[in-house]
Amino acid sequence: MPHISMHQIRIFDSVARYQSHTQAAEKLHMTQPAVSMQMKKLEENIGVELFERRGRSIMLSKAGKELREYCTKIIYSYNNMLAFSEQVKGHEIGHLTISVATTANQFSTRILSAFSKKYPDVTISLDVTNRQRILQQLDNYEPDLVIMGEPPKGHGLISEQFMPNPLVIIAPPDHPFAKKKGLDITDIDNQKFVVREEGSGTRETIERIFKNAGITYNTTMEMSSNEAIKHSVAAGFGLGVVSLHTLELELNNAHLVVLDVKGFPLERHWHVVTREGKAISPVALSFKKFLLKEANQYTHHKGASKG
Ligand code: PGA
Repeated sequence: MPHISMHQIRIFDSVARYQSHTQAAEKLHMTQPAVSMQMKKLEENIGVELFERRGRSIMLSKAGKELREYCTKIIYSYNNMLAFSEQVKGHEIGHLTISVATTANQFSTRILSAFSKKYPDVTISLDVTNRQRILQQLDNYEPDLVIMGEPPKGHGLISEQFMPNPLVIIAPPDHPFAKKKGLDITDIDNQKFVVREEGSGTRETIERIFKNAGITYNTTMEMSSNEAIKHSVAAGFGLGVVSLHTLELELNNAHLVVLDVKGFPLERHWHVVTREGKAISPVALSFKKFLLKEANQYTHHKGASKG
């Protein structure tokens, strides 16, 4: 029975990733000869060549590729075991890889900051991107969890709704609609709009709603940031649709108004989503519990009076 140590598994994983003994050695704070020796021992133990040498570079052999798949799972489980053993002592540790929809950025960052204060030994990678990109990431099993609008059914996703995401139509305070009460959605027909980019959940929703209501709009600008949309609307480029969660300061400072349109705010919801078949790490599970319990405290769109 060959003996393979955790140390060798980590070195092998690193060499496979960088395809170089020298780079792996640097990352692992080891010397290059020590890395080469461990890889030689591993190959002897297993009895097959794990790398093919091509000039100065090395590539995984067929057996090496298969072994790497096991190693990836072992490292993942091992790290989770370490995190779990700390957790049972009341000490949260580990790494959280999370993606959030652009629109969820503000409140998500606040929640992550509160989580991080509570558990200072947890490290976090945060990606802020749009709905379409998040769905691709989930498809590739990349993030531990994501915060997004309701995900599509039947994509192997596990989703839990946790908080409303009200969408509103905004205008500059001097817009002719700004002070009108009880506007009908058909009043919006043929207005100029500043819109989010293709792939945004906000855009997808509003396109659907407007289409169902049989109204069209003229796009003056398309942009991937809610901040940029708010600035452009305030500057008079047209109306805009954003989540109330992105609007705190502008409403308080009266740079923008929320139009009083029947059917709005449009009630969408935020969901925390994980990928079926990707084991949830202890730290991701802790964050999910924290989020479900505390999320409501981290949005404060109190000034949402219309008109
Ligand atoms: P966004 O929002 O892609 O428009 O930022 C996400 C969503 O609503 O699903």
